[in-house]
Amino acid sequence: MEATNIAILLLVSFFSFTAVSRSQTNKGQWKILKRSIGISAMHVALLPNNKVVAFDRTDFGSSNISLPLGKCRNDTDDQAHTYDCTAHAIQFDLATRAVRPLTVLTDTWCSSGALTPNGSLVQTGGFNDGDHAVRYLSPCETCDWLEDKDGLAVRRWYATDHILPDGRVIVIGGRGQFNYEFVPKTSSFDRSVFQLPFLGQTKDAAENNLYPFVHLSTDGNLFIFANTKAILLDHENHRVVRSFPEMPGGIARNYPSSGSSVLLPLRLGQGDSFVVRTEVMVCGGSEPSSYSMAMKGEFVPASKSCGRLTISDESPKWEMDEMPIGRVMGDMILLPTGDVLIVNGASRGTAGWHMGRDPVVHPVLYRTGIGSSRVNRTFEILSPSTIPRLYHSTAHLLPDGRVLIGGSNPNIRYEFTGVLFPTELSLEAFSPPYMGSKRVRVSRPTITAIEPGMYIGYGKRLSIKYEVRKGKEEEKVVVSMVAPSFTTHSFSMNQRMLVLEMGEVRRISGGSYAVDGHAPATAILAPPGYYMVFVVHGGVPSRGKWIHVN
Ligand SMILES: *[C@@H]1O[C@H](CO)[C@@H](O)[C@H](O)[C@H]1NC(C)=O
Ligand SMILES: *[C@@H]1O[C@H](CO)[C@@H](O)[C@H](O)[C@H]1NC(C)=O
Ligand SMILES: *[C@@H]1O[C@H](CO)[C@@H](O)[C@H](O)[C@H]1NC(C)=O
Ligand SMILES: *[C@@H]1O[C@H](CO)[C@@H](O)[C@H](O)[C@H]1NC(C)=O
Repeated sequence: MEATNIAILLLVSFFSFTAVSRSQTNKGQWKILKRSIGISAMHVALLPNNKVVAFDRTDFGSSNISLPLGKCRNDTDDQAHTYDCTAHAIQFDLATRAVRPLTVLTDTWCSSGALTPNGSLVQTGGFNDGDHAVRYLSPCETCDWLEDKDGLAVRRWYATDHILPDGRVIVIGGRGQFNYEFVPKTSSFDRSVFQLPFLGQTKDAAENNLYPFVHLSTDGNLFIFANTKAILLDHENHRVVRSFPEMPGGIARNYPSSGSSVLLPLRLGQGDSFVVRTEVMVCGGSEPSSYSMAMKGEFVPASKSCGRLTISDESPKWEMDEMPIGRVMGDMILLPTGDVLIVNGASRGTAGWHMGRDPVVHPVLYRTGIGSSRVNRTFEILSPSTIPRLYHSTAHLLPDGRVLIGGSNPNIRYEFTGVLFPTELSLEAFSPPYMGSKRVRVSRPTITAIEPGMYIGYGKRLSIKYEVRKGKEEEKVVVSMVAPSFTTHSFSMNQRMLVLEMGEVRRISGGSYAVDGHAPATAILAPPGYYMVFVVHGGVPSRGKWIHVN
């Protein structure tokens, strides 16, 4: 063997050795995006123009960002300042990191929302003068909130919203409301409310059933989880069509014992084409009594337990797992790889003012094995943040594959000093391990074209071209699409990920590839609207590209 060949061989083996060890030790990275956005990101949503909308509550007092000149709120109902010239909602530009104050007039505290099919955010309920409000925000450079103070039939505080296959939004529950309604209304006289006794039945002494976890199942019905129980609701005929087994272990999962939940990625075109395996995951929470214990100054350890339920099975059973860390007020975020990031929260106490202790600064990655060849379902502890994110903190997947982290304010007003956990006005981004190492940066795929373009009809042919600078053809490739969520109080409403049905990857030339497949077949699988599409190559996702499915 010639000397140069040996040198190359050594170089290659050295490179692969360092690449492997780097990827194994890489546990993700944190970065501050903005020290202060002026408000605390209690509720967040991502609009299809790559702007993040964040807001807290109007009854918090003066925020750290002013409203545009002459736009003060003169609100005799306000519990902090009846005359307030500061903003409580902002828009954050991901490209420039610029913050633009928005004018929200009614109180958005503990409200809910969803992105409508045209990319406008609809946002419902809240507290005080905002508890009946329906608010709209369109994605544009100068758009601001349009508010209908009496848009809801009843008061909704701590309710959950979900987008439906027909494009409407269902608003479920809220404190003292064991019912649901729909927005937008068909007429201004429509005050229809539909009873849902399940929400009353799951309320205990501490409630523990607020912000119910709602997922649109692949049969068109809504999976609704509250406290320890779950049902399937036919929202068109207003019938509960199924009651699922109670989650074992006696842990309360909803506010204030806030755990979190995701609908695990739906894999289209696998197995029986008529039944897509539909699996819900619920993680964390705390003992039903932990809120009353916290009131007495005793902060009980949060739960480590997670359960998975395949709701498309005829007689599903909860499969229970343990996370490496107990967590209450965690967020669960679906990553483009199909893995789940569990982040934010505390290891003792509950949600509520001053009720959490011992922040959990380490995210945990739940690997599903969908986007990479590592098939086993495992939990892995990732790198810690330096900023506690307790009550009123949030998380959201960004189009570049990172996860936005914001908020945390367990105080009744903005408090920056002299409290256990000061109000957080910062935004951070967490880069999961798939973005962090040099090996990953080199082999990150780039989507160069999506045909037929941004607008794609149900079941239509879809062709994606992408490039990988370094990579082997035998790497596993999946194409995923993720719906942007509305995140608040440890639950990402409308979060949904589909792994698309795609054919064989074709190499066009060098590092250029093409893969063909189909858009989801129905609006039940993917409600109409905007999604981020990712190509995942050997476990490393591209940046997302927006498509609109209708
Ligand atoms: C917000 O403003 C207050 C009052 O001006 C100031 O004390 C505080 O440091 C500011 N907080 C942040 C995070 O900028
Ligand atoms: C606020 O509204 C009240 C009632 O309409 C009015 O009397 C008052 O002058 C207003 N305050 C300011 C500062 O505009
Ligand atoms: C988008 O849809 C919402 C809800 O139906 C509606 O209020 C809004 O006017 C629409 N926006 C545009 C630009 O059509
Ligand atoms: C998956 O789990 C099985 C059983 O615990 C183990 O034998 C196997 O090595 C694991 N595979 C990987 C890729 O970790």
